[in-house]
Amino acid sequence: MTHEGDCFLVPGPVRMSENCLQAMATPVMTARGPEFREVMAGLNSGLRHAFNLSPSSPSMKSESWSGEDGYKVVVVSGSGTAAMEMVIANRFRNNDLVLVATNGKFGERVAAICEQYCNVKHLKYEWGREFDLGEMELLLERRCYEAVLICHNETSTGITQDAEAIAEMCKRNETGFILDGITSVGGIPVHPAEWNAEAVVVGAQKCTAGPSGIAAIAVNSHFIDRVQTIAKQGDGNPRYYLDLIAALKKGDDDQTPWTPAINLAMGWSAALENLKHETNEGRWNRCQKLASGVRKLFTDLGFTLLADHGQRSNTVTAIMYPDGIDDSWRSTLKSTYNTQVIGAQDHLKGKMFRVGSMGETPVSEMVEGCNRMLACFRELGHDLPEVDVASYFA
Ligand SMILES: Cc1ncc(COP(=O)(O)O)c(C=O)c1O
Repeated sequence: MTHEGDCFLVPGPVRMSENCLQAMATPVMTARGPEFREVMAGLNSGLRHAFNLSPSSPSMKSESWSGEDGYKVVVVSGSGTAAMEMVIANRFRNNDLVLVATNGKFGERVAAICEQYCNVKHLKYEWGREFDLGEMELLLERRCYEAVLICHNETSTGITQDAEAIAEMCKRNETGFILDGITSVGGIPVHPAEWNAEAVVVGAQKCTAGPSGIAAIAVNSHFIDRVQTIAKQGDGNPRYYLDLIAALKKGDDDQTPWTPAINLAMGWSAALENLKHETNEGRWNRCQKLASGVRKLFTDLGFTLLADHGQRSNTVTAIMYPDGIDDSWRSTLKSTYNTQVIGAQDHLKGKMFRVGSMGETPVSEMVEGCNRMLACFRELGHDLPEVDVASYFA
C-alpha cells in the first residue's frame, strides 16, 4: 500500500483519526448530565486499557475509573505538564526529598516541577546517555528519598529508560516510583502494577492519538493514602485547580471538579477505542517496527543516532544531521516534500532532527516519509545511495 498526501511524522501532537475528529464535533452537552457521565465512563475505561491496568466497564455508575488492581485513573483538563504538576504538587510536602534522574529536556522539566514543591536531588546525565543505575542505587540505599521520578521515554533525545530495573531498585529500597509516561503509555510497554508505580502520567496527543490539551494520571492506593494524609494534616503544598482531593471526590460519579474539556474528552475516548481495537501489544509492535526500520535505515546510510545503543526509543528517533546539513533541511522537507518531522531543543537545536513513530501512523506513511527525507537530503547535496526503503519496514 502506498501513502499519498502529507507525511506527518512528528513525536506529538500526532494525526487524529476520522472517528476522533468526528467525536469532537458532537453538539454541546452539559458537564453534569448523564450524557457526559457516559462519555467520562468510556474515557476512563479506555484509559485503564491504555495504562495497561485491570479492565473496567465503560458505563456510568460502574466506577469506571477504578479496578481490581487498586489503581484509579483521573482525567486532567490540561496538557501532560498539568497532569505531572498535579501528581507532584499533591504527593509531596515541601520538606520531602525526591530523586530525579534525567537525560533530556522533559526529564529536566520533571525536576523543575519538583523544585516548585519539594527538595530535589537531580542526577543530571548527558542528553541521550543511559542513567548510571549503580549511582542511583547507592543514593537510594540511604533511604532518605520519598520517591524516584523519571521521564520514562525521553522525547527530546529518543532514549527509553530501563523502567523495570529502576522499579526493582525502588522496591528494594522501599521508595516510591513515579513516571512521566507521556510518550510511552500506548506506544511501548508500561506495567504500572508490576512496577509498583505510584503514579504514571499520559498526554492524549502522543501515543494514544487523541487531541492536545487533555491528559490523565493513573495512581495506586498508596499514592492516594499519602495524598489524603497530607491533606488531612494540612501541611501540603498550595494548589487549587490541580487539587487531587477534589478530583478524587468526583471520580465515583464519573465527574470532574471543574468544567471538563468536554469535546476533547469525546475525541480522546474515540481514539482510545481505536487503541482497544488494535490492542496494546499490537500498537507496541507497530511502533517497534516503525522505529527499528528508521534506526536501521539511517544507521546503514551512515547517520548517527543520539541515544545510547541499548535503550533507543520505539516512539521517537533522534538523528544527527550529517556535515553540511542544517535545519533548513526541515523547511525544504516541509515545503517541497509535504513531510514534517521535528527539530531538536536547547543546545542540540539545528544539530539533529527527530522522527516520531507513535499513534496510528501506518507503515506506508513511514516508508513514504523516509523516501522523501532521503530525496530531500540528496537535493541539498548530501550524497546517498539508492536503497529499498520499504524493505526496512517489511
Ligand atoms: C516526555 C514528555 N513529557 C512531557 C511533555 C510535555 O507535555 P505537554 O506538552 O503535553 O504538556 C512532553 C511533550 O512533548 C513529552 O514528550
